[in-house]
Amino acid sequence: MKNIVLIGFMGVGKGSVAREMVKQLGCVALDTDDIIESMENRSIKKIFATEGEKYFRDVELRVAKWLQVSVKNSVVSTGGGFFKVKNLKKIGTVVLLDSPFEKIYERIVEHPNAENKLKKRPLMQDLEKAKLLYEEREVQYKKVADIVVDVTDKSLEEIAKEIRKRAKI
Ligand code: S3P
Repeated sequence: MKNIVLIGFMGVGKGSVAREMVKQLGCVALDTDDIIESMENRSIKKIFATEGEKYFRDVELRVAKWLQVSVKNSVVSTGGGFFKVKNLKKIGTVVLLDSPFEKIYERIVEHPNAENKLKKRPLMQDLEKAKLLYEEREVQYKKVADIVVDVTDKSLEEIAKEIRKRAKI
């Protein structure tokens, strides 16, 4: 199986969809933020606070190279800005999980662990800025995606099935 690379805005559910795909396919899921946190032995929040965003983006580039060379038969969930790496399409089939900003925000704040979900995301601290970032990225996500899946009001099972059908896996 060619890797599936899940892209999309913060909080859209990339990690949850990856876990559902593992359930359905018995493959392995990897998350770029988790890889970065273990490489750096500190949280994303800490990396942003102490090193700044540019440093974080450079680590993303290194992770992207490693994924391209070393990872097969897997579902890769990515941080919301990871889609900008140059070799994205060489990692696997790029699937955009798409939903309106309001629905994504709703999904985060309705989560039992909402406070932590917001706190750990440096680019979600200012809602107005996050909305602007969403608007800027929405066009870019669609340009790079091989497959766009509207995830609004769909169950994880439905989303994973749709991805499998459209990616033919
Ligand atoms: C970011 C999204 C985050 C994380 C970092 C930057 C972004 O991942 O990589 O805070 O630029 O959109 P999630 O999409 O999992 O929140």
